[in-house]
Amino acid sequence: MKVNICIVAALALVVCALAVDATSSQKKKQVIIDTDANTDDAIAILWLLKRTDIDIKAITVVGTGWASLSSGLTNIFNMLAFMGRNDIPVTWGGGYALYDIKHNIYGCTYAKTIPNAPGGRQWADTLVGLAHCFPKAGPGRYYNPNAPGAVDLMVQVLNSTRDKVDILALGPATNVADLLSAHPWAKVRIGRVVFSGGAVYVGGNIFTNVPNTYAEYNALGDPDALAAVATSGVSLVLVPLDATGQLIVNQTYLDRLGVNQYTSEAAWVYSLLRTLQTQMGSVFNTYSLWDPYAAAVLVDQSRYADTVNKIKITVVTQDLNASEVGRTKPDSRNGSSVSVVLRPDDVVFDDLIYYLALEDNSSPSPRCTESANGGWYAWN
Ligand SMILES: *[C@@H]1O[C@H](CO)[C@@H](O)[C@H](O)[C@H]1NC(C)=O
Ligand SMILES: *[C@@H]1O[C@H](CO)[C@@H](O)[C@H](O)[C@H]1NC(C)=O
Ligand SMILES: *[C@@H]1O[C@H](CO)[C@@H](O)[C@H](O)[C@H]1NC(C)=O
Ligand SMILES: *[C@@H]1O[C@H](CO)[C@@H](O)[C@H](O)[C@H]1NC(C)=O
Repeated sequence: MKVNICIVAALALVVCALAVDATSSQKKKQVIIDTDANTDDAIAILWLLKRTDIDIKAITVVGTGWASLSSGLTNIFNMLAFMGRNDIPVTWGGGYALYDIKHNIYGCTYAKTIPNAPGGRQWADTLVGLAHCFPKAGPGRYYNPNAPGAVDLMVQVLNSTRDKVDILALGPATNVADLLSAHPWAKVRIGRVVFSGGAVYVGGNIFTNVPNTYAEYNALGDPDALAAVATSGVSLVLVPLDATGQLIVNQTYLDRLGVNQYTSEAAWVYSLLRTLQTQMGSVFNTYSLWDPYAAAVLVDQSRYADTVNKIKITVVTQDLNASEVGRTKPDSRNGSSVSVVLRPDDVVFDDLIYYLALEDNSSPSPRCTESANGGWYAWN
């Protein structure tokens, strides 16, 4: 009799443990991150890795934005190794904008708007040198020709769960558009696509020598792809410059990050931003929490967004007007209905610091910086 009670009790414990486990994992928001692996993407992903309410199912890299596909892929693998997360699948996606593929002009039309040195693709490819601070990811990681590409990996994730999966799009929309065009059923399996980019009522941010004052880089990286996503019927949340332009990383904030380097990742982010500040000079005065803020909106829109409006948007594509191409234009007649974040909540600044410093033992971590003795960047 005693034995039986014990067995019942033990079984109950096991059942309880499983139940608790199931609820806690159910509460997690499942997300696929699609990224062009630039500096602000890295900060956004590090933040999400610190959140226990987010389950990152896969990271797909898109080559139509700032980082080259191969460098971006390697850096994401190594960053995950740095965070002890070699369990997260990573793969490659599109390397050319849809327009360029259609017209056989590979890589030219929009890729050329990514600036050359200094400050352009090289900085994204190397994370201004700080990619060297990450360890090597090791065997079983990196590019594998037999591994599924971005679209196939996204399909695997969407089909592996009954819950809807959100997509956080931190670069041009190429991979998301490819998914929706190859697998139209996917749109009902996706909760929301949160797209970091666009510029609705404000001007764009293209500072390279092209006569376009309307577009934002992620939208311009593949305008046809963003247009396809917007018109697909998937639930799209745009996190445009209207909102992110209000989240500039100023000196006061940088100093706060500086005194909160309690984890290696917080120290890495501080070194990254300090290096950017040194290299960019006064241009750094426009550096904003672009992708980290889009990540925040994905995590908890009601906490981080003060104004979100449903707006009918048309994404201007090459065929319409080259000087406006990539523009996310309000268009009440023909536009697609999109949720647009117009005003951010400042609490994002505090939360980013809080999460990066989490699990600290309250003594500052070593910093990965330019080293005096030989090595370019090292932990010291
Ligand atoms: C994924 O699910 C869709 C919709 O149910 C189905 O059409 C497709 O064949 C599935 N794909 C895989 C690879 O399981
Ligand atoms: C700097 O940014 C913080 C948010 O981190 C903001 O509260 C403050 O007003 C800004 N300071 C200046 C001088 O713009
Ligand atoms: C194209 O854009 C330019 C600059 O905004 C504008 O002046 C012109 O009217 C536009 N053309 C068309 C056909 O929409
Ligand atoms: C809406 O689309 C139709 C058909 O493509 C076009 O004729 C019309 O000019 C568009 N209206 C606006 C306001 O863009």
